[in-house]
Amino acid sequence: MGWSLHKHLAALLAALWVSEYGRTAYNQLVAPPLPAAYFAYGNGSTCDIIQHNYSEDLGFCEDLALWKTHDADGKRVDKILASCDLARHEWNTVMGPMRDPKPRGSIWLLQNINGRLRAQPVRIDGFPSDLDFHPLGLDIVAGPEGPPTVFIVNHMRTKRTVELFELHDESSPRLIHLRQLEHPSFRTPNSVAAVSPSTFFLSNDHGFTRDGFWPLTTVMHFLETLLFFPLGSVELVQLQEDGISAMRVASGIAFANGLALSPDGSELAVASTSPTKVHLYAANTSTGQLIHKKTLRLPYSPDNLHYHDDSSLLVAGHPHFPGISLLARRKRPTSPSWVTQITKREHLTEEDRSGTVPYSVYKRVSVDNEYAIKTLYQSNGTGWSAVTTALWSDGSLVMSACTPIYTTIFLHFCPTPLRWLENPRGAAKLEHVDHDFDLRRCLAFSCCPKQATHGRHCP
Ligand SMILES: *[C@@H]1O[C@H](CO)[C@@H](O)[C@H](O)[C@H]1NC(C)=O
Ligand SMILES: *[C@@H]1O[C@H](CO)[C@@H](O)[C@H](O)[C@H]1NC(C)=O
Ligand SMILES: *[C@@H]1O[C@H](CO)[C@@H](O)[C@H](O)[C@H]1NC(C)=O
Ligand SMILES: *[C@@H]1O[C@H](CO)[C@@H](O)[C@H](O)[C@H]1NC(C)=O
Repeated sequence: MGWSLHKHLAALLAALWVSEYGRTAYNQLVAPPLPAAYFAYGNGSTCDIIQHNYSEDLGFCEDLALWKTHDADGKRVDKILASCDLARHEWNTVMGPMRDPKPRGSIWLLQNINGRLRAQPVRIDGFPSDLDFHPLGLDIVAGPEGPPTVFIVNHMRTKRTVELFELHDESSPRLIHLRQLEHPSFRTPNSVAAVSPSTFFLSNDHGFTRDGFWPLTTVMHFLETLLFFPLGSVELVQLQEDGISAMRVASGIAFANGLALSPDGSELAVASTSPTKVHLYAANTSTGQLIHKKTLRLPYSPDNLHYHDDSSLLVAGHPHFPGISLLARRKRPTSPSWVTQITKREHLTEEDRSGTVPYSVYKRVSVDNEYAIKTLYQSNGTGWSAVTTALWSDGSLVMSACTPIYTTIFLHFCPTPLRWLENPRGAAKLEHVDHDFDLRRCLAFSCCPKQATHGRHCP
């Protein structure tokens, strides 16, 4: 081919890329003018920071999994597992850096104790003490009998695995390690959506891994994220007596991040982070077959997803991609947050456009005639920053966030799961009040002796 043909081809490709991704690139790179904090219901004054005694490793809780149980009287009781890793900015195989894999992550159980949601550390039994533990996505599923099964994606220094546990939630909760699952298809595993104690969907966020031969892998991983190479996938993994099988059930997804299976198992949602989209598939959980139903464009990069009981979908994410990338490297104290609830139109009107939301979703994406996207929470980072996951539990919105603690010196931040206590159904009037958060509580919470051992400066 002649040089000018090359040039024309390159120009054509660039034009195609811009027409497909120009808007997305704008939405990612230009921070929207969000308020300090907006709550769809109330003003956040009833937010409760879920904390633990100052000595434990609660922080960087990337993912939450909801476990619906029942008490002795048959009343529904929600419990939440959180996958946390204080060393995430030393070892982050998704966003980087990858410096020190030694400090281990931890799992927490959030449950209502005397009317308040409390976080308790979950003891891990039977997991070899010499193995790395860097939990990322997790999910929990009850079988017909016995304790529930928990799947946790583990980013070890040498390989990526899915750890299989059994949860015992006596007064001091513990996870009993059953198996370490490995498969060549676990290249860049991020999120899990459990179908049964022996079957789950798994997302691989990238085609290029970050580890391996530098600079090729690092550069390609970065380019893949930046230019939306569609190399992520979804696998259906099935446990067998003597091994596991994995089958690719969806591919061609750029940065396939959070996964969620609807309450009746008929729909799988996949967050495509860098292209700011959520894909919805009709799922057949016995065959693993996924049929693409819908792609919804969001005004931000979606992270983790959770279905609510009414089959609406909660999507937490990052409205400024450079912000979250810099925060992951501790080069920035905060990053904006946006949480929306996606509902079939018959269930929801266009409240979002009514003007009560400081910055509407529809300033950046066009209205879909099938689904409405309602803002539940948004912040320019001054409020709860870098919310990675959100779910409804027991009438409360539970979010996990990376919130600044000590912004004046270094860039320390405390990721704290928090909860909003008001009953969403009861709150009819929407109001917008910039909320004055009591960050001192968070500061007191975060600057704990143990965190200091991870290289933080505490007052
Ligand atoms: C967020 O918005 C508030 C109120 O408009 C403003 O005071 C604050 O500086 C903003 N913060 C950032 C990080 O942009
Ligand atoms: C927030 O809402 C509560 C309950 O509606 C109210 O008592 C409180 O004054 C409000 N706070 C602000 C800062 O407006
Ligand atoms: C915190 O520690 C105190 C004293 O060690 C203990 O009595 C209390 O139960 C602990 N609180 C939580 C939430 O674990
Ligand atoms: C899933 O696929 C199997 C085998 O093709 C079929 O028998 C079953 O009806 C399907 N289930 C749903 C919910 O479509």
